[in-house]
Amino acid sequence: MASAARDIASRPRGPSRTVSHSLCSSSSPTSTFHASPSSSRSAFPKQLKPFATEDIRILLLENVNQTGRDILARQGYQVEFLKSSLPEEQLIEKIRDVHVIGIRSKTKLTARVLREAKNLIVIGCFCIGTNQVDLDYAAKHGVAVFNSPFSNSRSVAELVIGEIIALARQLGDRSNEMHRGTWNKVSNKCWEIRGKVLGIIGYGHIGSQLSVLAESMGMQVIFYDVVNLMALGTAKQVPSLADLLHDADFVTCHVPELPETNNMIGPEEFEQMKNGSYLINASRGSVVDIPALIDAMRTGKLAGAALDVYPSEPAGNGDYFVNDLNSWAEGLRSLNNIILTPHIGGSTEEAQRAIGVEVAESLVRYVNEGTTIGAVNFPEVTLRSLTLDEPNHVRVIFIHHNVPGVLRKVNAILGDHNVDKQMTDSRGEVAYLMADISNVNQSEIKDLFESLEALSCTLRELLRVPRTTALLTKYKLAS
Ligand SMILES: NC(=O)c1ccc[n+]([C@@H]2O[C@H](COP(=O)([O-])OP(=O)(O)OC[C@H]3O[C@@H](n4cnc5c(N)ncnc54)[C@H](O)[C@@H]3O)[C@@H](O)[C@H]2O)c1
Repeated sequence: MASAARDIASRPRGPSRTVSHSLCSSSSPTSTFHASPSSSRSAFPKQLKPFATEDIRILLLENVNQTGRDILARQGYQVEFLKSSLPEEQLIEKIRDVHVIGIRSKTKLTARVLREAKNLIVIGCFCIGTNQVDLDYAAKHGVAVFNSPFSNSRSVAELVIGEIIALARQLGDRSNEMHRGTWNKVSNKCWEIRGKVLGIIGYGHIGSQLSVLAESMGMQVIFYDVVNLMALGTAKQVPSLADLLHDADFVTCHVPELPETNNMIGPEEFEQMKNGSYLINASRGSVVDIPALIDAMRTGKLAGAALDVYPSEPAGNGDYFVNDLNSWAEGLRSLNNIILTPHIGGSTEEAQRAIGVEVAESLVRYVNEGTTIGAVNFPEVTLRSLTLDEPNHVRVIFIHHNVPGVLRKVNAILGDHNVDKQMTDSRGEVAYLMADISNVNQSEIKDLFESLEALSCTLRELLRVPRTTALLTKYKLAS
């Protein structure tokens, strides 16, 4: 059991989770992207509260983007940065001391590792997925986890636009031929994309961006989604997948990996597609039945395809795209007019930068204000920030087991005070309470903390005090 005494300030609530998208300003592809101090400062325009940030220790692994490092360093936290991940034993040594850890996909935060992380309050996954973290264990031990699920949507949409043109013009094949020294100038079955119908399956973050880009290039857009959604521009939602497959020249998949989307494009669906149409999948490898795709390509039903994702993908770079990995790999590689890319849809400098900003800002908001909006394993709770006009306020964060009777006990403790605002929510076994209390003095704060700490349902309790003179905030894991 460990603790860290420090002051906690409250800041104005940061921007919404979409802030990172606004930072994807266009820039020269050859320039190096770093957050400009002004762009990051704009996210936290005013430091309303002094804050003893130097007590917060952060470990960043796996070369987390500079944008994220800058945001955390500017808060005054102690930030240790390592370019690589760590072997488990070293990770365990390091994680014991830190309040915050930032990782990407290679660092495995298993129950064994997290058990040792007695001071840890929050994990930042500077990536899309969170499979590398034992989310359940983290939640049950009062550790919030944040990620950045949508920062690379634009990158994927742009890749798909590129692929539509490349497939329509057979660019991959012509380029391969030239690399082999063959001049093969053809126009047969090469098309403009203007006026062609793009069918988007899944009109979410990526699908809807793609819709706008495709229309601006003169395509007609139709989409199919399980939810009724407002179409952008002149796009039209169609009532069924069959309608989309029947009408589209290009079909592109942008659905999540779910039991219902497993092999959602298989032999029957290929049959329903137009002769000579094209299929693109940059969603998840399980969405397209690849042996059926190979058949559709061989029979000429499809004129081309682009795949960025596969049922099995290697853990690292190398000569792994062979039948040992996926039994049909070599059959796929032998086809004409098929673009195969190694899951690079979201892999751009801009996306990495946006991920750095989004996750670092989530960490700052959580550490400074207790806001859990965007957490993947916690209930999402927020209150407006405390300000300088409220000097004797304290913010109580109480993370507890979601069992009957807790709120009664907590409110019996808080009830002696003037509770200005309170919000509580639960997710599975974990519940999160946030309350702002006014007119409290130091000894009352200490009493509050100790009373809450004594409750048997406690996972963790934090008191956030908006003054440098206030001393008590303690992190504690339930034993
Ligand atoms: N290739 C890459 O590098 C890369 C990068 C980012 C995301 N992705 C993947 O792209 C996919 C889409 O991502 P997103 O951010 O747009 O997701 P999103 O959640 O914003 O949108 C998904 C959409 O699919 C719809 N949907 C769900 N089930 C459906 C079904 N059975 N039929 C039709 N529509 C359905 C949802 O209603 C939603 O509108 C995800 O699978 C994601 O993992 C890939």
